[in-house]
Amino acid sequence: MYKSILRPLLFRIDAEKTHYLVMGLLKIFVSIPGGKGVLKFMYGLENKALEKEIMGLRFNNPIGLAAGFDKDGKYIHEMASLGFGYIEVGTVTPKPQAGNDKPRLFRLKDDEALINRMGFNNEGVDALVHKLKTVNRNGVIIGGNIGKNKTTPNEDAAADYLYCFERLYPYVDYFVVNISSPNTPGLRELQEKKPLSDLITALENKNKEHDKYRPILLKIAPDLTEGQLDDIVAIIEETGIAGLIATNTTINRSNLKTSSQTVSSIGTGGLSGLPLRERATQVIKYLRNKLSITKVIIGVGGIHSAPDAKEKLEAGADLIQLYTGFIYEGPALINSIKKLLLT
Ligand code: FNR
Repeated sequence: MYKSILRPLLFRIDAEKTHYLVMGLLKIFVSIPGGKGVLKFMYGLENKALEKEIMGLRFNNPIGLAAGFDKDGKYIHEMASLGFGYIEVGTVTPKPQAGNDKPRLFRLKDDEALINRMGFNNEGVDALVHKLKTVNRNGVIIGGNIGKNKTTPNEDAAADYLYCFERLYPYVDYFVVNISSPNTPGLRELQEKKPLSDLITALENKNKEHDKYRPILLKIAPDLTEGQLDDIVAIIEETGIAGLIATNTTINRSNLKTSSQTVSSIGTGGLSGLPLRERATQVIKYLRNKLSITKVIIGVGGIHSAPDAKEKLEAGADLIQLYTGFIYEGPALINSIKKLLLT
């Protein structure tokens, strides 16, 4: 129903407006008596065989909602009703920020892709904490994806990440350090060896001060060279953090079906969806071969079908996440992945 009726209607509306419209409708639907039950019946396939124990956390299933979809933690209950096993909120920054000027989210329908330059629009970590204090988790694991404010220079970035870490610490199950968004100027420079090593060490030291250790993952770009990936592997091993999320969106625009004129008229931003699938899988495979077996990899990028999900897991991902595939395929994608995993 989503692909044949709802999607054609929704895709006529501006992409960012559609997001809030659909989430608003979903919120209403879940709040009416029986609404949640209907969603659970349609989408909430549960099976013990889908459960996974990773990083000391028990996931109902290995399919998560990728960061950026629910930046402010407003739809955790609703997205859990659709059958996700875990939800990553954020990227959140210490202070609220508006993000880039609109329009900043574009569909490339022929490619089943999106280009976004949202620029970490979010209500700030304090507002997120407020939401998380009262949220009905519905049994899902919650990850906190943290970043820095646009106005914070890279030299002071660690303070932003540490602030978010401390504020979110009581309310999330794991953390993701996002240094790979292409939409915050200079952010990706934090992926270089020295600043990255300093940042991760500072966070891991803070982590050890707490009674209960929270796993920290690093989210990386798909545009890194093998040399840069090797540096990152070394940092993961040296600092002892839990692992990686591969990958964020790409700045690459090659092999698209959409005309180069249209693509260049859209301008800068990160590309996600099907065109990212192969590269994200390549990065996962490369990292799996280099990282020690105890390190966790969450695979994300271009999962639009159950076989795409299997490809990521076979490449070495322990868990997977969806964003653009969920927009193009709708919630039925989650169940179809679960069904394939159960065969
Ligand atoms: C994202 N993504 C993202 N990632 C992140 O770590 N923090 C963020 O705030 C965002 N924001 C965001 C907004 C939008 C509109 C999109 C489409 C994506 C990246 C996302 O989590 C994921 O890594 C990529 O989109 C690749 O996966 P898909 O979309 O191909 O499944």
